[in-house]
Amino acid sequence: MTVHFIGAGPGAPDLLTLRGAKLIAQSPVCLYAGSLIPEGVLEHCAPGTRVINTAPLSLDDIIEEISSAHAIGQDIARLHSGDLSVWSAMGEQIRRLQALGIPYDITPGVPSFAAAAAALDVELTRPGVAQSVVLTRTSGRASAMPERETLSAFAQTGATLAIHLSVHVLPRVISELLPHYGAECPIAVVWRASWPDERIVRATLGTLDLEIAQQMERTALILVGAPLAAGAFEESRLYAADYDRRYRPVGTQPRFPQNP
Ligand SMILES: C[S@@+](CC[C@H](N)C(=O)[O-])C[C@H]1O[C@@H](n2cnc3c(N)ncnc32)[C@H](O)[C@@H]1O
Repeated sequence: MTVHFIGAGPGAPDLLTLRGAKLIAQSPVCLYAGSLIPEGVLEHCAPGTRVINTAPLSLDDIIEEISSAHAIGQDIARLHSGDLSVWSAMGEQIRRLQALGIPYDITPGVPSFAAAAAALDVELTRPGVAQSVVLTRTSGRASAMPERETLSAFAQTGATLAIHLSVHVLPRVISELLPHYGAECPIAVVWRASWPDERIVRATLGTLDLEIAQQMERTALILVGAPLAAGAFEESRLYAADYDRRYRPVGTQPRFPQNP
């Protein structure tokens, strides 16, 4: 028996990995984080699967469900939204499973920042403009931010910011970022990226209509940074015709004369 932690993606049922979908279909029990995962994703469950929404459960309740399934040898698909490596609460579950000697494995998923970037038609890194993406959030009731991880500190680098779990404090986010990025800097709020009712608001830090953006509660991501703007930017050297590289030797004395 194994607990399969599966990144269930941003919401669209077909934005799951093939491995994730297969494990869900094979598991007789499915625990899913119903606050963020739409029911459509559960279409991967086989008929007769015991499906449990963990939104109203405590960690103890969840571990009890897992232990009961373990006792009768049933595999469990444990679904969290997006990818499991950020804000999934997987770490604390794994620690309990390790203590109980219950086997588990982990299947990554499509994170919401990637789905939001796709919805916006943008690449979050741009040559000469921004080469880092900061995945961050603001303090919430359940988790305070470490003292040095402030939006201002990240903003000082000029990196693209993907701010999670924060649409309810949008005015504060904007006022903290304005001194660093300026009023012309693009911002986008993407609500329910990849869901059928996905919504997008694009503006600049100086022009964002807070009322519209604040109608987008909870499942929304705030993206800020110069790469969100349409317009001229340098091409990367990678595909430049005169760029000598291992996979495309160029010139009379290429660094890598033979293709691999
Ligand atoms: C608890 S965190 C989970 C993050 C998730 N593990 C991931 O990889 O994206 C929830 C936050 O992720 C963001 N989020 C999750 N799904 C989203 C979606 N489909 N569209 C926009 N933002 C989403 C929102 O900022 C939301 O407040």
